Amino acid sequence: MTEPVVSDERITCLVVDDEPQLRDALRRVLELSGYDVLVAASGVEALQVLEGTQVPLVISDIRMPEMDGFTLLRRIREKWPEVAVVMVTAVTEVDVAVACLKLGALDYILKPFQVEEVEARAEQALDKRRLLRENKRYQAHLADLVDQQARRIEELFLEGVQTLVEALEAKDAYTRGHSSRVAIYSGAIARTLGMNETEVRLVELGSELHDVGKIGVREAILQKPGKLEPHEYEHLMEHTVIGARILDPLLKNAPEVISVVRSHHERLDGSGLPDGLSGDALPMHTRIVTVADSFDAMTSARPYRPAMDASEAIAELHRCTGSQFDPDAVMAFLRTYPDEQKLPITTPRTVHRTLPEGVATGVWSISSD
Ligand SMILES: [Fe+2]
Repeated sequence: MTEPVVSDERITCLVVDDEPQLRDALRRVLELSGYDVLVAASGVEALQVLEGTQVPLVISDIRMPEMDGFTLLRRIREKWPEVAVVMVTAVTEVDVAVACLKLGALDYILKPFQVEEVEARAEQALDKRRLLRENKRYQAHLADLVDQQARRIEELFLEGVQTLVEALEAKDAYTRGHSSRVAIYSGAIARTLGMNETEVRLVELGSELHDVGKIGVREAILQKPGKLEPHEYEHLMEHTVIGARILDPLLKNAPEVISVVRSHHERLDGSGLPDGLSGDALPMHTRIVTVADSFDAMTSARPYRPAMDASEAIAELHRCTGSQFDPDAVMAFLRTYPDEQKLPITTPRTVHRTLPEGVATGVWSISSD
């Protein structure tokens, strides 16, 4: 988008000078060049004009009583950074004019001035202003594009990880659809607990990814039909740490998700794995997923036991409330699903979950640096 040039459309210029003769002279020159000219006798008056009128170009004297050109220039730069300012100064004060350029004036005119010089400087200042504005718009557009691409890369990564979880679960008839069901339970509990949409989505994403670390667990152990030996159980439980390690570089700004993945086998009393966290060290997001994960595991068949029905699993939730499970999370689960007949839920259609809007990752987004 380019701004109309002087010859196409009349541009408003504000002339600021405390000396009436100079002010008039400048006004006449600029009017003859095709500008609509406003005048102000002081910096204060100039600011009043700018408050009420859109002015792309200000030509201002430097030495003025009340508010000098320096102060006026500073104020304009702060409040109307896109206004082009040209300073007028005596030949003997070139150093002053240069100081104005450092403060953001686009040019200066030396007194006594020639008509052609005023015209040329005004036009050049407007040209510079146009280029600066175009450049700014271009950069904003570029930043938008980079943000969009970063977002897409995140989505693709998360999509890839979720596909991995699905593939892992699909290999085993006993775990098929587990993470998706846990995401449904957890999201619903989070809503019952009054979490906002961003938090709900983080809980759902954490649920969907909570077992991704099983990619690093030996298949023989994942699918062992009998009870696991202690060392095998230990190896299986490493999936929490492995999962967090896989996701950590991408989800640095979503610690809730990492916490769910790493800590979903922790217990409220501190006897869980991998860190033995207890009480306040376990965020609500994680406590919710622990309840949902356990309920779904209990109501799914395993190679070594049949599926429990909902009432047995709920009795187990009650039995372990306070030691393994957070009481509020269990209560919220029961409030969310008051009818046992409707439990367990069926496996939902596959949804690829993304990070909520506004939760940038630490790696891909340029704006998060
Ligand atoms: Fe797990």
